[in-house]
This record gives sequence, C-alpha cells and structure tokens, in this order.
Amino acid sequence: MKFDIKAKDLLSSARAGTITTDHGEIQTPIFMPVGTIATVKGVHQRELENDINADIILGNTYHLYLRPQTDVLVKAGGLHKFMNWNRNILTDSGGYQVYSLSANNKINEEGVKFKSHIDGSYHLFTPENVMEIQRKIGADIIMAFDECTPYPCDYKYARRSMHMTHRWLERCIKQLQKSPELYNYKQTLFPIVQGSTYKDLRKQSAEYIASVEAEGNAIGGLSVGEPDDEMYAMTEVVTHILPSDKPRYLMGVGTPINLLENIALGVDMFDCVMPTRNARNGMLFTAHGSINIKNLKWKEDFSPIDEMGITWVDTTYTKAYLRHLFTVNELLGKQIATIHNLGFYLWLVREARKQILAGTFKAWKERMVKQMANRL
Ligand code: GUN
Repeated sequence: MKFDIKAKDLLSSARAGTITTDHGEIQTPIFMPVGTIATVKGVHQRELENDINADIILGNTYHLYLRPQTDVLVKAGGLHKFMNWNRNILTDSGGYQVYSLSANNKINEEGVKFKSHIDGSYHLFTPENVMEIQRKIGADIIMAFDECTPYPCDYKYARRSMHMTHRWLERCIKQLQKSPELYNYKQTLFPIVQGSTYKDLRKQSAEYIASVEAEGNAIGGLSVGEPDDEMYAMTEVVTHILPSDKPRYLMGVGTPINLLENIALGVDMFDCVMPTRNARNGMLFTAHGSINIKNLKWKEDFSPIDEMGITWVDTTYTKAYLRHLFTVNELLGKQIATIHNLGFYLWLVREARKQILAGTFKAWKERMVKQMANRL
C-alpha cells in the first residue's frame, strides 16, 4: 500500500492524499460506505461506482463470518468477486460488533466468546482466528482485533483493556506473518488506538501503535456516546502522535460536521452507518442542514430533493414524492434516500479535498459546519 500526501492545510492539520492498493486509488479524505453483509443496503454496486463514486467500502468480519460464512467467500474467490465489487474493501475485525450486538459475551486474554445474534450459537473470536477469517474474506485493508470500550468507562478498566488490545495486536501481527494472502493481491493491517476518553491513555496507546510501524493506523473507541468535544480532544491527542506519513482512520464517525472537524485534526478515513441507516428512516443530509422527509411540511413541496443535484436522484424526484414513498412505506423511498445521503457524504469529503488542495479549507469548513447544523 502506498500513501502520497498531495497537500497540507496551513491553518489546520488537514491533508489531502492518495492511497494506492492493488484495487486502485483512494483519494483522501475519504468516507467509506458501510456494506456490512456484502451489500451496502439498498444500493446496487453500479450505483456505488457510477453515481456515488465510492473508492472503498467497508465490510464486517462478524456478520460475514456468521452469514454467508467464510467458506462460501473462499469458494467465491473472496468478497470482491462474491459481491462483484472491484474497488477497495476494508473489513472491520469484529471487535466492535461482538460488543455491540451480542449479549452474553465473555472477554478474556484469549479472546471473546460470543453468542450469535442470528441463531444463539456460541463462537470464539481470537486475534489469530480473526486474522484468518479476514484473510479468507480478502479485504484490501484489514483491522486488528481490539476491544472497543464503552462510554463512560472507568479508568482502570480502560487502562487494562488498552493493554490487552496492544497484546492482541502483537498476536495479530504474528498470525499474519505465518499466514500469507489467499488471493493475488496484498492485504494491509491497520492497528487500532484505544484508551477511552483519557488523554494519558490515548497518548500511551498512540505511542505504542506508532511503534508498530504499520502502513496505516486507526482510532477506535470514539463516537460511542461521548460529547463531540471529548471526541475531538481525543482525536487531537492521537493525530499528533500517529505518523503523519501514514493514513489515519477514525472508526465509526460520524455526522457531516464530525467529518469536517476531524479532517481538520488530521484524519483521512471515516466510516459510519449514519448516512445509510438514517436514510432508511427518512433523514436526509444536505449542505444546508438535515431534513426529515416524513414531515408534513413536505407534503406538497414539489421542489427537487436537493437543488445541488449531487446525484441524479436529487433532481429527478421531488420532496413531495419522496415523502409519499416514506408515508406508504415503499422500498424505493429508502433506496432514493440512501443514494442521496451517500452521494452527499462522498461529495463532502471530495469537496474537503478540493478545499485543502486550494488552501481554502479552514474558512470553508467553518461556513459548512454552521450551515449543516440547520434542521430544515
Ligand atoms: N468501529 C467503531 N469503533 C470501533 C472500535 O473501537 N474498534 C473496532 N474494531 N471497530 C470500531
């Protein structure tokens, strides 16, 4: 994997770069649409490519391991072939889903024993088998197995958990050295900084993660309920320590405003279910604020969904029509809203990149943050 920085903003820590993998280029800053179970819900791969223009999407080890199951993916020739997506894929390690989805999980030094949310069966994830599973899924970027601590989290628990995540990282690295790629392209491991909302732990974790000299680094354990200011404070501590010549990925973040604020702090990559999940609930993000399309006020509003026309759905359909589709619970409504939201998120990061390259990022960001806070 290669990472070239094309420009650095002078008034913030924002950067514009290009990641190159065997599946092509990723222009950063980037937002990765979430495609949990080998699908970005409601969106065709050709729409992701042609309309939304995503350079990379995200899959989840936990979900793919349970269904369709790893052996099916191996027989298909890997996840790219299985879902017919020839651009980049990143898989999360399952660390997060194990905690957020399954009750009754037991965590110890060996790994996490969890109960499937599908059929109640018991499974064990360890750093070793999670690396093996991610080899078989075959994503371009794979994540270390970690513990995402909840918020709030007491200091002693956060410290113990952080050290365990570091030990798990060593086991992930050893396992990958023993176990080569199954397919004819490279896979890159990103380790994950933890440390909850404690600056000293975040600093310690970032220093340890940096010492591993991975090709890219991630920040986890944020956007789990803490106030935005606390998230930004943690990002800032960490981005100052993680190597500046390697991409930085902030996991599970966030709102459009969160993206711009964290780009200003030196983050290059993001993923979040928000644009897709909220779309299915009728919430649209725009440059001028968010819209609840189910609201009565749109009943007879025959203006386009979004005058900006980032994706074709924005100018093809009216707000009144989209509201109607939600009112009668038609599938097409969720599809249109999803294309709109992902189109907007990808526009936002592409525009951030343009502004960084032009040297105008800071002022543009301030203006956008104000605008996007509106509820229309
Ligand atoms: N997604 C959002 N946060 C996290 C995290 O801390 N760890 C992992 N593995 N995935 C995440």
